[in-house]
Amino acid sequence: MISRLDWISSPAGALRGEVAVPGDKSVSHRALMLGAIAEGTTHIRGFLESADTRATERILRAMGVRIDAPAAGERVVHGVGLHGLRTPIGELDCGNSGTAMRLLAGLLAGQTFSSVLTGDASLSRRPMRRVIEPLTAMGARIAADHGELPPLRITGGQALRGIDYRSPIASAQVKSAVLLAGLYALGETQVQEPQPTRDYTERMLAAFGATIGFEPGRASLIAGTQLQGMDVIVPADFSSAAFFIVAATLVTGSELRLMRVGLNPRRIGLLHVLRAMGADIVEEDLRESGGERTANLIVHHSPLRGIEVPIEHVADMIDEFPILFVAAACAKGITTIRGAAELRVKESDRIAVMAVGLRALGIRIEEIPDGAIIEGGALRGGEVDAQGDHRCAMAFAVAGAAARSPIRIRDCANVTTSFPGFPEIADACGFGIVQI
Ligand code: S3P
Repeated sequence: MISRLDWISSPAGALRGEVAVPGDKSVSHRALMLGAIAEGTTHIRGFLESADTRATERILRAMGVRIDAPAAGERVVHGVGLHGLRTPIGELDCGNSGTAMRLLAGLLAGQTFSSVLTGDASLSRRPMRRVIEPLTAMGARIAADHGELPPLRITGGQALRGIDYRSPIASAQVKSAVLLAGLYALGETQVQEPQPTRDYTERMLAAFGATIGFEPGRASLIAGTQLQGMDVIVPADFSSAAFFIVAATLVTGSELRLMRVGLNPRRIGLLHVLRAMGADIVEEDLRESGGERTANLIVHHSPLRGIEVPIEHVADMIDEFPILFVAAACAKGITTIRGAAELRVKESDRIAVMAVGLRALGIRIEEIPDGAIIEGGALRGGEVDAQGDHRCAMAFAVAGAAARSPIRIRDCANVTTSFPGFPEIADACGFGIVQI
């Protein structure tokens, strides 16, 4: 149980320095899961040490997987093979992590044993029908409160069959749940998405040796191949880097260099949008590491202008909207966001949390069902509530650096779910966050 924690974030002078943000959350979860059901060992470097990824780690250990942690940011997973997971004692607690719960639901649907996935108060309010429906169509048995809400009670011993699933929602978690269940299904499992989403599950399944074909928006998997453990290098998480990209853009005189940031094309919608708003972000030292493109990003302060966010970027920046709201609040003119209704069912209703908070800081903002219309202005100090949402807390902290006077941010403890060192890194590059 994480206790409540408030932050006070104060106006900053020019931000400077090199910033190394921690490893990618999506990749860290998947490397643990695939390593667990592979044969042989999987060595993960750059692993994200956070509450969310540790929840997945604990759950896999509870099912008999040995996972060593030789150093911070490193894990050695001793795979038990596709059919080697053991009946866990007790419920499996996913904490705050939607990725853990939805992906594990897919993995557990095809096991011979039954299991129960639980989560914290926020996760217990999040929609699970989106995974229950396709998994049930594959033959899984999953019970949930009102058919929709955690805990998920999964009855083992079901014979799964492949399906051709056309997902109504652009969600990497849904796609991944179906593909992981597909590892245990008879025949071919196919998924089609309304818009392409992050493809780490597909890429990693292929690298571990699964029989999978994929292209943007589509994947097709045939079960039966054993997975083989491998080395995984986790790039720095673009979604964590995003807070510093916007902070350097907003604070006059800033120059930040963000090291080795993962630039998977399905994650960098915010880069395109910020550049269209006038941001100055240069990519340097482009590399390919573990099949992922990385680069250092050099960000200079630059004034922004409001834009209409192109719908085609929405899925590629789905985690970046809280910080985009802050960028838009500081831009000249109007920024319009549409097609982002998914934000209402994230760790919080992110449209409402950001709209209420930014209004309290003097910004005119109109909520619409699937987005917002934000009129840029001058952020004043004040008090806002992150409502336990890690990304809203960090976005408001950046607002504090760019505001005229300090901002008190309520309920920030969950920042540890994705980015435990955020206040220390912020401090090192020049903006002060006091934790109270
Ligand atoms: C994730 C997918 C996205 C994203 C989340 C991580 C993943 O969720 O918001 O932070 O690792 O697959 P949805 O699939 O719900 O869009």
